[in-house]
Amino acid sequence: MTGSFAQLAKKAEQEKAFITVSKEPVENPPLEIYKLGNQVLRNPANRISKVDNSMRELAKNMLTSMYSAKGIGLAAPQVGIQKRILVIDLDIENPATPPHVFINPEIISSSGSINTYEEGCLSIPGVYLDVIRPTSIKVSFRDEMGRPKKMNADGLLARCIQHEIDHLNGILFVDRVTNEETLKKELKENGFFYKDVNTLNSK
Ligand code: NI
Repeated sequence: MTGSFAQLAKKAEQEKAFITVSKEPVENPPLEIYKLGNQVLRNPANRISKVDNSMRELAKNMLTSMYSAKGIGLAAPQVGIQKRILVIDLDIENPATPPHVFINPEIISSSGSINTYEEGCLSIPGVYLDVIRPTSIKVSFRDEMGRPKKMNADGLLARCIQHEIDHLNGILFVDRVTNEETLKKELKENGFFYKDVNTLNSK
């Protein structure tokens, strides 16, 4: 084995995801996902000072709960835990694609360009509405081993990271919906209440 190969192997080992979770739905997910109207969704989450086994266990349980609900992203406040951790997997049908774990994520820059995309949320099942956000972002975070990372994201990943970071700040996507009439109608049809929306748009 050559030196450079050994270095590559070492690098691959370092880059390896340390969380492996089955993507198959389970009958009794480990964590309950709270719904719009529950105050836990509105409490800002606290920074995580130490990334240890208990944090990796939490990430695993969040992933299992997310896969069981057929979601692509989940933030700790959605399961009643006020910590700045979120999980994302845009390829839930493919067991070979590792999920993303973001600990203490911060958006360090956003593109000037914005786009409109229909969002949904495991805390507001059945409601899908257009939200305007920056098209691409740069995010800093720690991974599941506590290693500092930076990532450029665009497309669905940028969208998903922004949606999940909002959860860490007690913000839900319905707070950002600009079409108030459609929002009221969609919420009502799915058994939710407009009074539980903290609208961020100036009227
Ligand atoms: Ni959500």
